Amino acid sequence: MNSPLKNDLYLRALLRQPTDRTPLWVMRQAGRYLPEYRELRDQAGSFMNLCSNPELACEATMQPIRRFGLDAAILFSDILTIPDAMGLGLYFAEGEGPRFEHVIDSAEDVARLSSVDPWESLRYVMDAVSLIRRTLDGAVPLIGFSGSPWTLATYMVEGGSSKNFAKIKNMIYGDPQTAHQLLDKLADSVCAYLNAQIESGAQAVQIFDTWGGVLAPEMFREFSLAYLAKIVAGLHRSHAGQRIPVVLFCKGCNAHLEALADTGCDALGVDWTISLREARSRVGERVALQGNLDPATLLTNPGVIEHQVKATLESYGHGTGHVFNLGHGITPDVPPEHMTVLLDSVRRFSPAWHDANGQ
Ligand code: CP3
Repeated sequence: MNSPLKNDLYLRALLRQPTDRTPLWVMRQAGRYLPEYRELRDQAGSFMNLCSNPELACEATMQPIRRFGLDAAILFSDILTIPDAMGLGLYFAEGEGPRFEHVIDSAEDVARLSSVDPWESLRYVMDAVSLIRRTLDGAVPLIGFSGSPWTLATYMVEGGSSKNFAKIKNMIYGDPQTAHQLLDKLADSVCAYLNAQIESGAQAVQIFDTWGGVLAPEMFREFSLAYLAKIVAGLHRSHAGQRIPVVLFCKGCNAHLEALADTGCDALGVDWTISLREARSRVGERVALQGNLDPATLLTNPGVIEHQVKATLESYGHGTGHVFNLGHGITPDVPPEHMTVLLDSVRRFSPAWHDANGQ
């Protein structure tokens, strides 16, 4: 049995229940800006070794929790484990980001792909989730995650990161049927993968649609949003008597906030190109918001960080329903001391935005 939570601020804020301050976690909180992470990755030999070994993945997850005392832990893994499990052969070339040995080029390639059984080929992720839950011992909640079908498809068709998304866009405009077959298989896999993480102990799940923002509005609705909605509808929303909040983070998708809120998710992650004030007025009471400090702020100095934290809290305004975060992942060049400044500022200044009843 897992212990009850000592700090449930993150889950409460996602469900828009009263809290006495704003909780904070940071996307990519485990990563290269931490010297202990770089040491662990060197020991592991590669990033993929780190992800596929539950003990090492657990250690990477725990590093930022131990160092900073954040309000949530996130599974240490990667969104590209699904395409890897589908047989594409993920690897990380030094300085080049993720690459695949096999790319999806044709309708035949898509037809050959099979959906993933997470309990088989991604068992190592489930083992990591259970081990992390035991290790956390109820200190803070554990977030599970996946990439969105659209974002995963961009990597699978482009063969890695892309500047202009020429191949995948060629597919959605020129051969939409094949694109839909690929996205369907991915949606089934993502849904099964997240449900398996929930069964293994993830207490909230987040879907990253990092590249939703490169799509024209109609294309976003057809090739990303529709699949996000399908996944949200298929997720187990409670486990062991606890509600499991679902967070959608779609970068560059401010135009679609209302439609994203209508998927039935509990919260939306927002990047820094919209004020929380505007985002909140548009989504109203439907969902909580997570974000949205510009990650570049953490490269400046303590005075600027403090000032920008105050501005972000003020922009959201009074009441619950805000999880403090960056608008995208922390970058490897951030001095770890600046994370401490961020954390201290959120702890110091956020109680003023919550009244005595935690509203
Ligand atoms: O947030 C966390 O601490 C949990 C771990 C996590 C990683 N990747 C570890 C990682 C999470 C949640 C991700 C998600 C992820 N991975 C996304 C969506 C979020 C986003 O940033 O938009 C995407 C697009 C990926 C794909 C990916 N993985 C890329 C493009 C890269 C290379 C870019 C880079 O930062 O080097 C990775 C590698 C990766 N994933 C690293 C980490 C810590 C760096 C690997 C290393 O140690 O060299």
